[in-house]
Amino acid sequence: METIRVIRGMRDIHPDQALWWQRMERRLADTLRRYGYGEIRTPLLEPTALFARSIGEETDIVEKEMYTFQDRDGSSLTLRPEGTASVVRSYIENTQWKKEPVSRLYYLGSMFRHERPQKGRYRQFSQVGVELIGSLEPAADVEMIDVMVECMNAIGLKDTSLQLNSLGCSACRPNYRDSLVVYLKQNQGDLCDNCRRRLDINPLRVLDCKAEACRRVADGAPKIIDVLCADCAGHFQTVRKGLENLALDYEINHRMVRGLDYYTRTTFEMVAAGLGAQNAVAGGGRYDDLVKTLGGPEIPAIGFAAGLDRILLKLQDTIPEPASPPNIFVVTRGEAGWRASLELMRGLRRAGVQVCSDVRRGSMKSQMKQANRRGARFVIILGEDELTAGRVTVKDMHAEENSDQKQIQVPREDLHGFLLNRLGLLEGVVG
Ligand code: HAM
Repeated sequence: METIRVIRGMRDIHPDQALWWQRMERRLADTLRRYGYGEIRTPLLEPTALFARSIGEETDIVEKEMYTFQDRDGSSLTLRPEGTASVVRSYIENTQWKKEPVSRLYYLGSMFRHERPQKGRYRQFSQVGVELIGSLEPAADVEMIDVMVECMNAIGLKDTSLQLNSLGCSACRPNYRDSLVVYLKQNQGDLCDNCRRRLDINPLRVLDCKAEACRRVADGAPKIIDVLCADCAGHFQTVRKGLENLALDYEINHRMVRGLDYYTRTTFEMVAAGLGAQNAVAGGGRYDDLVKTLGGPEIPAIGFAAGLDRILLKLQDTIPEPASPPNIFVVTRGEAGWRASLELMRGLRRAGVQVCSDVRRGSMKSQMKQANRRGARFVIILGEDELTAGRVTVKDMHAEENSDQKQIQVPREDLHGFLLNRLGLLEGVVG
């Protein structure tokens, strides 16, 4: 029979890989907690209209990348392609502004986009996303960028650079858009087909097209930060000063417009060296109009999301793999040995030690083989002899073959203490 395979662009994460994920997620959660951000978990499925209204009908995501299907009652549902829209939906639904003036939220989880899969780009991928809702002040922008940088530091990501831009607001962006369209029309002949098509619908996106010819056109295009209104210019200036206070290096990237339509004012991205085309590891910005667009009051906000799959690709090349905690394998002989092992193992596990045994109840030789395969630090042997004598045999798998430390007889009641004190290795794991 033909075997069923994983869907293109989606992957399984096996236990050795999961260790990397767990370490990264732990460090992120810990860092975010220290900034006062609380975790929010929203559903994977949302009404399609949520994303069409927030991300924008004319974006690549909404036009061609969403996993959209009809529910049994005929309504249109979509697997979330990003997290900001859901957070804002929830914020409005719970009238959160009545409970706190500023909401600090983060989420960790899978997003779905039907993109062309390649290294660092998947159809199901994980993000950590962070949102700060309720402040128009540059202080919020600076906090958010600092949080992003500190999150990346905490997980050990190096060789990154920070890019900054401002997209203005509803007062100044339309003028910029008009002058950009005039410029792009003058250079239409040099644009790729896609950009020629986008020129009237979403001209800002032409600026971040990857095609060489379009890049050259974009390099000569008018720059939005030159035509910001006084409020937006002042805001941007204060954000830059704050970043300088924190000694955070950044570069202004006039071409960074982001792929979602809800952004206003400050936008930022972090790119990492060595990841090829998919080098944007995190990105975000202000979305001062989104709460209102989705039916809430006028409440400004800012946030970012980082792509954990591609970050991990880079981490695995640069930092040591997470150490597995020491583990113990219990080898038993005979029915009585097995039965006695049950309680012994439960006691050790309750004390925090990782313990396994052979549930296939193979020979001594095959049990020892399994212990080796699992990389057991200690093997505890429990058979009729040991039971009668009220002791266990502990084999230290790291000791020299002929040393007197290799195999030790330990009274049953002393086992926990022995593992802790005599071998000293389980500290922090036991107890
Ligand atoms: P985004 O730039 O679309 O922003 O995604 C953020 C990050 O997710 C990207 O920089 C990238 O690292 C990762 N990413 C995106 N697509 C893929 C993919 N197909 N495979 C692997 N990684 C991917 C947002 O999603 C906004 N919600 C960020 C935000 C939060 N803005 C304000 N608040």
